[in-house]
Amino acid sequence: MQTYRLALIGFGNVGQGFARILCDFGEQYEKDFGARFVITAVSDLQKGSVYNPEGLVPADLLNAVEVSGSLEPVAAPFKGWDALKTITESNADVVAELSFTDLKTGEPAISHLKAAIKAGKHVITTNKGPVALAFRELTKLAQEHGVTIGVEGSVMSGTPSLRLGTEMLHAAGVTCIQGIVNGTTNYILSQMDAGAAYADALAEAQAKGYAEADPTGDVEGFDAAGKVVIMANLLMGGNITMSDVDRQGITNLTVDDIKSARARGERWKLIARVEKAGQGVKASVKPQCLPVTHPLAGVNGATNAITYTTTLLGDVTLIGPGAGRLPTGFALVEDLLALHRSLK
Ligand code: HSE
Repeated sequence: MQTYRLALIGFGNVGQGFARILCDFGEQYEKDFGARFVITAVSDLQKGSVYNPEGLVPADLLNAVEVSGSLEPVAAPFKGWDALKTITESNADVVAELSFTDLKTGEPAISHLKAAIKAGKHVITTNKGPVALAFRELTKLAQEHGVTIGVEGSVMSGTPSLRLGTEMLHAAGVTCIQGIVNGTTNYILSQMDAGAAYADALAEAQAKGYAEADPTGDVEGFDAAGKVVIMANLLMGGNITMSDVDRQGITNLTVDDIKSARARGERWKLIARVEKAGQGVKASVKPQCLPVTHPLAGVNGATNAITYTTTLLGDVTLIGPGAGRLPTGFALVEDLLALHRSLK
């Protein structure tokens, strides 16, 4: 049995989803994979910080947050450590960076990841900021320090879109990737199509844990643009930044636009697209009106879908959850198991 001690930096939707998965499936993973995942430290800006070198009980963490909104009730020998102290001084072998996403600076996540890598710790993250803005730099740093970096949850949450691309489809020659990569906007558009008002649909997407802390990033297309950058750079050999994406969100779409599309047998979807163009790639995020018979028109709610167009296989489409506590928490399990396989 191989034990992995984990420090979680951030204990919001993703961290709590991951803790829930460990409560429910941790023992099964030990039996199935010979890997034991033990959370020893959690540091969250709002909820506080706890560290027990022997391990924290995931159910205790969840109960404390549910009852008090804070980690304060959790018994632990060390409390109040900030993120950097937790990263560098805890006994974690793996740091899970789960702080809020900032697609302009990538901070504080980039600093957290660099500190962890320099301290010789493996890192896993579902945070799009550092992956969209600093992936090459972080990968190089990780190689120099002999550690790995797992980023599966940064696109399509736990639906293994990146791993499918990097490990399987890359060799088939990916020429275009397009799809629905933002759960919040797809949920809003689906609810509006069913008659809901925009504000109500957005509030529901927030309550269900799909939206970013600042949902402007979702509805204005920044979140999808970040994912397009990640797909372009990780799956298609691109080297683009956020400003290279031709981006438009859904805020200009009205209930009337949606109703008249429905009357024509069409549906609005926020489509992300990246394709080969000359020596580079061309990327966009835009609302598009699709006939209801189009495969992406039938992808509703927070579900995401990506079609990879490849030279050798033609089109390969992956449909699955794109947001939410458990699906995104599960992405961390995939990255941990990939690390476990790589070390075996
Ligand atoms: N806010 C994002 C979404 C979360 O709605 O898709 C998952 O990246």
